[in-house]
Amino acid sequence: MQLTNHLDHDYLRQALEHDVRTGLASTPKWLPPKWFYDAAGSDLFSQITRLPEYYPTRRELAILRERAADVAARCGADNLVELGSGTSEKTVLLLDALAPRTYTPVDVDAVTLGEAAERLTARYPGLVVEPVCADFEQHLALLPRTGRRMVAFLGGTIGNLAPAAREVFLKELRSTLRPGETLLLGADLVKDTGRLVAAYDDAAGVTAAFNRNVLRVIDRELDADFDPDAFDHVAIYDERHDWIEMRLRATRAMDVRVRALGLAVSFAAGEEMRTEISAKFTREGLTAELVAAGFTVDRWYTDPAGDFSLVLARV
Ligand code: AVJ
Repeated sequence: MQLTNHLDHDYLRQALEHDVRTGLASTPKWLPPKWFYDAAGSDLFSQITRLPEYYPTRRELAILRERAADVAARCGADNLVELGSGTSEKTVLLLDALAPRTYTPVDVDAVTLGEAAERLTARYPGLVVEPVCADFEQHLALLPRTGRRMVAFLGGTIGNLAPAAREVFLKELRSTLRPGETLLLGADLVKDTGRLVAAYDDAAGVTAAFNRNVLRVIDRELDADFDPDAFDHVAIYDERHDWIEMRLRATRAMDVRVRALGLAVSFAAGEEMRTEISAKFTREGLTAELVAAGFTVDRWYTDPAGDFSLVLARV
């Protein structure tokens, strides 16, 4: 197994520096969600997927169990490329149904990626596993072009992109695919606000720990002195945009130093910093976005409750 790394230390470091500089200088302040996922953050996210309130993972799994064979028959792919693969827990269902020659997991966290790749190599002796450490917003054009590919982008991670970024992402993805290749996209659907908020503000506080983890990452990587415990976890549903917004709210006035950037940043008591949006979709809305990017929607699968959708699209 050979891991291709487009995110060497310097690249990651510069991207983090750029994002922190930009986000902390903005009003209101914000940080991009990709920095949640160091090894600890990936582990916290894994715990989130098992929480009673967090339905998306279970729903998507149920759809995959029901439909993986249909997806496999329709896509005819021999290279499964998975964007934001994380621990690749759901991937086994697709691998079992598809039996591809190659599996190409793509993730920003090299540690989690390497572990998942080792696990799957051991489990599927005939499978060629070619992990790529990359940022799916930056490196789509560099993805391997081996075989006929199906790109799986599961979990609803598409919802982390703001509408303009989503449009760019889908168009770029479309342009890297050849005729006959497919996209399998997991998207969370608009539903009762109470259930949505509970999914991002669980009783056990795991999502709160996940949210604060971004401050730990910045403290460690950029020699900052954020006190994660001085921030409250906030999850609200924005009905105008149909997205969940996670924020960190300063519980007191603070001056935070980010020594590696020579930055001092002030927080007012109660000030909120946005750390994630997680957009929720309707069938009409997502279909229109895919069509605008040049895809044809082949199949729209949902779970019986209509909570989550898997879309099979082709070029
Ligand atoms: C992995 C991006 C799909 O938006 O639901 C879970 C991340 N954030 N709880 C999501 C997340 C808070 C998750 N995605």
